[in-house]
Amino acid sequence: MKDIYTLGIESSCDETSASIVKNGREVLSNVIHSQIDIHKQFGGVVPEIASRNHVEAISTVVQDAIKIAGIKMNEINNIACTYGPGLVGALLVGVSYAKALSYSLNIPLTPTNHIHGHIAANYISHKDLKPPFLCLVISGGHTHLVHIKTYTTFDILGKTRDDAIGEAFDKVARVIGLGYPGGPKVDKLAKEGKPVIELPKTQFDNLDFSFSGIKTAVINLHHKNPEINKPDLCCSFEKTITEELIKNTIKAAKKLNLNTIALAGGVSSNSYIRSEFLKLENEGYKIYYPEPVLCTDNAAMIAASGYYEFLEGKKADLNLNAIPNLKIND
Ligand code: KG4
Ligand code: ZN
Repeated sequence: MKDIYTLGIESSCDETSASIVKNGREVLSNVIHSQIDIHKQFGGVVPEIASRNHVEAISTVVQDAIKIAGIKMNEINNIACTYGPGLVGALLVGVSYAKALSYSLNIPLTPTNHIHGHIAANYISHKDLKPPFLCLVISGGHTHLVHIKTYTTFDILGKTRDDAIGEAFDKVARVIGLGYPGGPKVDKLAKEGKPVIELPKTQFDNLDFSFSGIKTAVINLHHKNPEINKPDLCCSFEKTITEELIKNTIKAAKKLNLNTIALAGGVSSNSYIRSEFLKLENEGYKIYYPEPVLCTDNAAMIAASGYYEFLEGKKADLNLNAIPNLKIND
């Protein structure tokens, strides 16, 4: 079979990224221009500033990705571009650029869902992974337990009813003074602590999650006692949250009789969450997660997802628009 080269383009939040992926699984380049340093001073992403920075970066990022991959423009078989979910102004930069490139070079355009991209990051890191499997998507904007039925069909089994898990990490980090983005900082500090602080858990009959209760409890504990042991607080927060994640994931795995579980999204690079999920291998589950650089936003994961959509014939024309609240099943 002829090799297929996909150009992935990602601009949904604060990373401008472009990547060339061969046959959906082999990364030839993955250029990520992060804006973290710009947004850090505001304690979070400022959408308008993000859009302007995407505009400045996108041409160079795409050109670098093609150069590093060592292929010619006319060898690209399809362009996979994130069209949602995300910040509308940020998404529009990638979508407009991808449409222009697709039109000028006559290359098919595959509209790609950012969350599908996070899931597909696992295909790059694990060449043996194939649907069906369960995927726990845990990122800054999303918390979903998903049944991956085929490469392009998905069932949502459970989701957060309030905050995304990454938001809870970032908020906790901000309140206790660790800065932005908070996830990696909580991860590091938690290693020095013990899980000795009791925090509230959620009780739902279905497979949904909730993180606002635990987030508020951590914030209140810190407000009442600013001298509270921060490593213990971070460690207890991670432990409580991970127990919730595992409880629902196992419930879903039993219900669907699936023993393959993948993690995806920025929070899946958390070392405690990874190690607790890995322990499930002793109970007969097979656990997958992407390497850290593929957990947070990047275009290689978009190219991987777009490749499978392209094989299914999914195509956009020049009417493609950004959809900020795009759902997993849209
Ligand atoms: O997937 P991602 O890059 O963006 C979204 O699509 O939302 O995820 C970013 C989120 C942030 O909330 C960040 O704090 C969190 O992932 N994160 C982590 C870790 N690394 C990144 N959370 C916990 N532990 C980490 N090591
Ligand atoms: Zn993301």
